[in-house]
Amino acid sequence: MKARSAVGALAAVATLAFAAGCGSDDKASSGGGGGGGGGGLPKLEKKDTYKVGFAQTESNNPWRLAQTASMKDEAKKQGWQLVYTDAAGDAAKQVADVDSMIAQKVDAIFLAPREEKPLVPAVKKAKAAGIPVILLDRSVDPKLAKAGTDYVTFIGSDFIEEGKRAADWLIKETGGKAKILELEGTTGASPANDRKKGFHDAIASKPGMKVLASQDGDFARDKGRQVAETLLQAHPDADVIYAHNDEMAIGAITALEAAGKKPGKDVTVVSVDGEKDALQAIIDGKLGATVECNPRFGPKAFETLKKYAAGEKIPPTIINPDKFYDDSNAKKEVANAY
Ligand code: AHR
Repeated sequence: MKARSAVGALAAVATLAFAAGCGSDDKASSGGGGGGGGGGLPKLEKKDTYKVGFAQTESNNPWRLAQTASMKDEAKKQGWQLVYTDAAGDAAKQVADVDSMIAQKVDAIFLAPREEKPLVPAVKKAKAAGIPVILLDRSVDPKLAKAGTDYVTFIGSDFIEEGKRAADWLIKETGGKAKILELEGTTGASPANDRKKGFHDAIASKPGMKVLASQDGDFARDKGRQVAETLLQAHPDADVIYAHNDEMAIGAITALEAAGKKPGKDVTVVSVDGEKDALQAIIDGKLGATVECNPRFGPKAFETLKKYAAGEKIPPTIINPDKFYDDSNAKKEVANAY
């Protein structure tokens, strides 16, 4: 059964998801411009230009490169100085990168925390140094640090919803019967935790949807290929691969072909991100669908910081709207993909 534009077409949601007055997690923040730093957050003076940090996790895939390009382009457009760091896939280096931004006295820090727990002290250290932090794309452990108290806001996709949308498509595509191998993103990273939760919650009521094995593929193409190869050897009867991102899905497609299987025929592959190679794989009939995770953060990130400096209330969570790609729209969308 083909799931097309019902799940496909446009999609999700919203902007500015924000539940007023529902406990400390939901506290709105306000910054400078005469307003107080909400929850004791550092103020940000209203100025024509700022020196801001952007602490990136790694640069090993098109999603990260598109995010970095969007931040650099927007900094240029605004005439702000951007102190850019790349943690090269190492949370400890990312903590050191934030330390260096604090030492350089940046006005504010945009942080994409590689993993949920190790970056919490960095968020708190920046706050103690009087530097507001905006989390981009990934979050920190909500039990250890909170929007409106420790950092201004989180801007990014709803990862739980992404996992759910992948599962909903798959349920329709397979008629509710599947033997699934799951390639997980980096252990301890919020998109890995949440894309797993959203997917597993959505298939929980479908007894015919079985996850045979799950393993960390670190959001990387070659790791995804290697993990898929191992899992396919252990579970040759698998007929679905759910990958937490496109890079691992493309790695899995290579592994399937090497094992003499036809991706898209013998095994259905579904993933998350919406990168150009993935849309091409949909066009080629090898990837079934991908839920978009929009990497173009620059305009929203800089606009939010300006609002904070102006003393406007900032919601604790700002959700990017994401599309959905399958064979109903991949051809039309591929030229705009990253
Ligand atoms: O945090 C977003 C995820 O991180 C993207 O899905 C992935 O490609 C990236 O590495």
